[in-house]
Amino acid sequence: MAERIAEEKINQIRQAVDIVEVISDYVQLKKQGRNYFGLCPFHGENTPSFSVSPDKQIFHCFGCGAGGNVFSFLIELEGISFQEAAVKLAAKANIELDLDMSTGPKEKKVPEDIQAMLQAHELLRKFYHHLLVNTNEGQPALEYLMDRGFTRESIDKFQIGYSLNSWDYVFKFLSKREFSPEWMEKAGLIIKREKDGTYFDRFRNRIMFPIFDQNGKTIAFSGRTLGAEQPKYLNSPETPIFNKSKILYNYHLAKPNIKKLQNAVLFEGFADVIAADRAGIENGIATMGTALTEEHIAILKRTAESITICYDSDHAGIEAAFRAGSLLTESGMTVKVAVMPDGMDPDEYIKSLGSERFRKEVIGASLTWMAFKFLYFRRGKNLQNEGDRLAYIEEIIREISKLSKAVERDHYLRQLAGEFSLSLDALREQQKQIYFAEKRKEKGKKTSSSPALILQTNELKPRYYTAERRLIAHMLKNRDTVYRVQELLQGETFNEDEHQAILTYLLSFYEDHSEADSSAFLTYIQDDHLRRIVANIEMMPINDELSSQELNDYIKQVLNYQKLLRIKEKEVELKEAERQQDYKQAALIGNEINQLRKSL
Ligand code: UTP
Ligand code: MN
Repeated sequence: MAERIAEEKINQIRQAVDIVEVISDYVQLKKQGRNYFGLCPFHGENTPSFSVSPDKQIFHCFGCGAGGNVFSFLIELEGISFQEAAVKLAAKANIELDLDMSTGPKEKKVPEDIQAMLQAHELLRKFYHHLLVNTNEGQPALEYLMDRGFTRESIDKFQIGYSLNSWDYVFKFLSKREFSPEWMEKAGLIIKREKDGTYFDRFRNRIMFPIFDQNGKTIAFSGRTLGAEQPKYLNSPETPIFNKSKILYNYHLAKPNIKKLQNAVLFEGFADVIAADRAGIENGIATMGTALTEEHIAILKRTAESITICYDSDHAGIEAAFRAGSLLTESGMTVKVAVMPDGMDPDEYIKSLGSERFRKEVIGASLTWMAFKFLYFRRGKNLQNEGDRLAYIEEIIREISKLSKAVERDHYLRQLAGEFSLSLDALREQQKQIYFAEKRKEKGKKTSSSPALILQTNELKPRYYTAERRLIAHMLKNRDTVYRVQELLQGETFNEDEHQAILTYLLSFYEDHSEADSSAFLTYIQDDHLRRIVANIEMMPINDELSSQELNDYIKQVLNYQKLLRIKEKEVELKEAERQQDYKQAALIGNEINQLRKSL
């Protein structure tokens, strides 16, 4: 168990870091009034319902209910412990934590086998690179790369290497350094022979491309043949440290550039990423030969607003671009597509036509997503043929219907009308029909809750519910209010158990805190669920001052609800007494009910 960090230290960290700055590393935030808004990193959404309050130093999502302070943000998002979050934030704020968690104990937290796997990868990355650039054995590989246009600079930057043409060099190399063969096999570096249980190297006589994680740790390799053997690229298998569906090649180096440009260029292969980097495109990334996943998209969404897809211009590449682009636009990102002359890939283009043309005529001239679809749906069709032509026009109108901006729809309808000499009015009419038909289809199956819907459900709650929340909001802001509320409640509790729990927390919090402090209170609450509710309440707009009249109204609503409940109970009892013809008892209960009604 890690050491406890003193509360004083935690307060110091909390005051030194700015939640907006911390969250900005993960979410694109835009200022709107006093708060910042962005797309929630905890659930998929297209319209921002995630808000951050710099005044209160808290965040809250109206969509999924996530909420808390800067500590809970890191804990939830990175899946780390409170201590780890504190260490991270302390480092950010240049605050020294005496417990020296940054090196010692924290590293120890990584399980031993994972650590060994990472160490082995680190060691091999250096070794492979050394073989490529400094040895005779690596000479043919180096020549092959130079021939393909790789520069020494990019070989160093991407730490490209070479694996020897040997069955067991790596096995021996690692064994000598006391890495256990079982773990190295699990790490995908060596393979066990079925028949005798001996091991051999996975990568032999290949150009080695290390794969890095977001922090720049080597977690896998991909090895390319020098010739025509299959497979062309041999990759590390999925291992405890390598998950293909989460890894983007070059993300660790590209991230600052992606952030700056708010754009990433997505390539199909890493040879393209490296060639593009040489051509001055330093925000390039690629998946590991697999399709783009939701996990990849989630990573990209945290850093960029738009993605430029730059896949090979062959059939497979165009289909893959269409699929990736569809997923990305569905997730709310802006998509552009860079196209090259038939059949070329970016690496070949740069080699034969040069860096400048690549930057200007490929990346610089990328198509909007809609313009790409104009081209995409045209493929395989003969537009001289009426049937093909009509099918094409309908497909395009369908796509236009999905656009949310009227000006955009108009723009593309005009383009379509112009191209096929059609009446613009007729096209508009068609588009409307398709739009309403789609809408009818969608109706009834809508389940996602937009912020507006959530507001409505909150409004449907009984009046006491809002009253209790408002009271809590005021109590969070002002210590004295807690005592006023407690007194006015006269021993009664809030109707909502969670609200009562928060009140209890508040009472004990203010016992050792003389001032209100939203963010400190969030740290103080141990319960995740309650913390979210508090963050939600914090975001409620309330008056600065709580007048006695307002306070009394709220209290009345809280207490009235309990009286109403009691009246209901009594009414049941009354009926029962009447049924049993116990008129004396009935009269008594009737009296009580009247008293209660009067007190409302
Ligand atoms: P490509 O076949 O387009 O390779 O595969 P490339 O990028 O043009 O490479 P060069 O120019 O021939 O060297 C694109 C990506 O698909 C994966 C790799 O991640 C590659 O970067 N791939 C390809 C494999 O994993 N295995 C293969 O055998 C081939
Ligand atoms: Mn290529």
